[in-house]
Amino acid sequence: MTIREVATTPFPDQKPGTSGLRKKVPVFQQTGYAENFIQSIFDSLEGFAGRTLVIGGDGRFHNRAVIQTAIRMAAANGFGTILVGRGGILSTPAASHVIRLHGAFGGIILSASHNPGGPTEDFGIKYNIANGGPAPERITDAIFARSRTIDRYRILDAADVDLDCDGETRVGDAIVWVIDPVADYTALMEELFDFAAIRALIGSGFRIAFDAMSAVTGPYATEILEQRLGAPKGTVRNGLPLPDFGGHHPDPNLVHARALYDEMMGPEAPDFGAASDGDGDRNLIIGKGIFVTPSDSLAMLAANAHLAPGYARGLAGIARSMPTSGAADRVAEALGIPLFETPTGWKFFGNLLDAGQATICGEESAGTGSNHVRETDGLWAVLLWLNILAARRQSVQTIATEHWARFGRNYYARHDYEGVDTIAADAVIASVRGRLADLPGATIDALRIEAADDFAYHDPVDGSQSHGQGIRILFEGGSRIVFRLSGTGTSGATIRVYIERFEPAGGDLGRATGDAIADLVAAAEAIADIAGHTGRTVPDVVT
Ligand code: G1P
Ligand code: ZN
Repeated sequence: MTIREVATTPFPDQKPGTSGLRKKVPVFQQTGYAENFIQSIFDSLEGFAGRTLVIGGDGRFHNRAVIQTAIRMAAANGFGTILVGRGGILSTPAASHVIRLHGAFGGIILSASHNPGGPTEDFGIKYNIANGGPAPERITDAIFARSRTIDRYRILDAADVDLDCDGETRVGDAIVWVIDPVADYTALMEELFDFAAIRALIGSGFRIAFDAMSAVTGPYATEILEQRLGAPKGTVRNGLPLPDFGGHHPDPNLVHARALYDEMMGPEAPDFGAASDGDGDRNLIIGKGIFVTPSDSLAMLAANAHLAPGYARGLAGIARSMPTSGAADRVAEALGIPLFETPTGWKFFGNLLDAGQATICGEESAGTGSNHVRETDGLWAVLLWLNILAARRQSVQTIATEHWARFGRNYYARHDYEGVDTIAADAVIASVRGRLADLPGATIDALRIEAADDFAYHDPVDGSQSHGQGIRILFEGGSRIVFRLSGTGTSGATIRVYIERFEPAGGDLGRATGDAIADLVAAAEAIADIAGHTGRTVPDVVT
């Protein structure tokens, strides 16, 4: 087997976004495109000779082809051992765990998360470091810089590795191990949660519906919920990972998991409904007759986490992304622990988790996780909920109602305007930014603006600064509007408007969210004039 140095020329568009490089499949299928990016990753790292690299993906279209390329390139670049999930499968949280468990140097995760898959849909490549978390900006910036000047990549001439058989193969000087993608992760979940209590809950007739959305969590959920916890067959729906996710959008929200939502609101609803996304890091939690917003879920999980064995000793701190509602803030206050507000993207939680400053983290976009890995983890959130339900023996509805009665309620929604012309989207943000100085003190209807800023983050662990992370309009009484542009889209721009009304304990806690935030929605439009800039009068997705 010979190592080839292949001459190449840079592609101008390989800048990693919120979560790695994401493009349409035909872009990744261009000659040298994936190779350039993978080589740019390796060229930005030092000291990996002879070390271990983990490779896995969410099973979407093009996954197997890029896995074979990545194996050949990792071997040619000097990695000693390459761990690959069987079938090319590793959920994002499982990949994070495998990196940590096996003391790997890092990992390459092939995923475009919740974006659709298929020959003309999305694909992605992301690099994770030794702590199991996404590479920090220092590294992603270096990867991008390298991709602009790259002139050769290294690859081995070798036959494809049989990804469907567990075991060891030699590729050049490297050993490739095809591993069971589910086993290590399942063992970790068994350590964190009281499986016996959850089994007893299920045995008492508690019914669960889990929608794997034809994506990567299918095998994990089937093993854990049906095999280990004794839930009946069929509890996991759409459990077979498909390259195109069955033609659906594997995003577990009220739009794309509508059937589950409707069922959970119906008369025959199971006790607990949940779903996860393309690569298994997001979660959707729905009780019988009640949707739990991800922001509320974070707060309720944090308030009850001590009921699970893995968190019995309490939490060191809670971290949430800036656009996530302030519900968790009041839990942190009650627990007497710090609350960290970080920019959007899981990579900002890594330092806090490594330093032991935060135990539980979450984002409004349905990513929730803890220090057990360095990624957000969909099934983990589902299992923590089940553990809490098993310990409290109350419904999701009762737990939520009691939570709001104690802490107050943050009515919350996110409005997304998708596929917007980039220039128009930039103009929306620029015009709000231009008004920041004038907004404090202004009133819109009865709403008084207390403060307005462009969110910047100072990482307390490594001192790094991140600027321009979204515009915050803060109202008197704790209500809030946030504007930012998505960093994960692959066509045009997506404007995200995050709207939150805080209702203190003792107030009207049982309203419909749409009614509770209607005045803030109108205020957002008055401030940003999205209709004027983009011609859009209604959002494409409301979650
Ligand atoms: C979105 C979410 C963000 C999440 C990211 C990766 O990023 O908003 O919370 O971390 O996907 O899953 P965005 O498109 O907003 O940049
Ligand atoms: Zn995801």
